[in-house]
Amino acid sequence: MPIEQTLILIKPDGLHRRLTGLTIDRLDAAGLTMVAAKMVSVSKELAETHYAEHLGKPFYPNLIKYIRGVFHGLPDHRVLAMVYRGESCIAKVREVAGATNPEAAAPGTIRGSFGRVTTAGQFENVLHASANPTDAEREIALWFKKEEILP
Ligand code: RTP
Ligand code: MG
Repeated sequence: MPIEQTLILIKPDGLHRRLTGLTIDRLDAAGLTMVAAKMVSVSKELAETHYAEHLGKPFYPNLIKYIRGVFHGLPDHRVLAMVYRGESCIAKVREVAGATNPEAAAPGTIRGSFGRVTTAGQFENVLHASANPTDAEREIALWFKKEEILP
């Protein structure tokens, strides 16, 4: 099985609701290893570049506000950005995370256990995880300098 790297972001709802330790615990339990971590102040430009694939979709404007902490009143628009490494890491993290819509996510997954859908229909799903190797490479390069990731 391939050794892969993936980008994980603890989103503002995850930080606001103090779900960081729990999320890291689930990733530890899945046998995955953290190789980089930092708090990041998410500029509008960074948010828009990260979620460029969703430009034009109905949920896009609120997605940009959500990932910048606007709905959770977090100072500095902060998220926790991490890189994880391990065998088939990308799929394993997506499995631990659960489906995008918290109401459809399997019980026991992070999103199934702790995510929610707001009355406005916004998915607050605790974390971001890269979807595939191409996205993972692009996203890791967007959020981290090479020297910030352990060899
Ligand atoms: P992410 O990129 O954040 O890890 O989530 P994902 O791959 O599971 O889902 P994706 O399709 O990439 O969507 C990105 C984020 O947009 C919000 N979203 N809202 N209301 C909606 O229909 C809807 N669809 C997507 C979620 O915050 C989702 O995580
Ligand atoms: Mg995605």
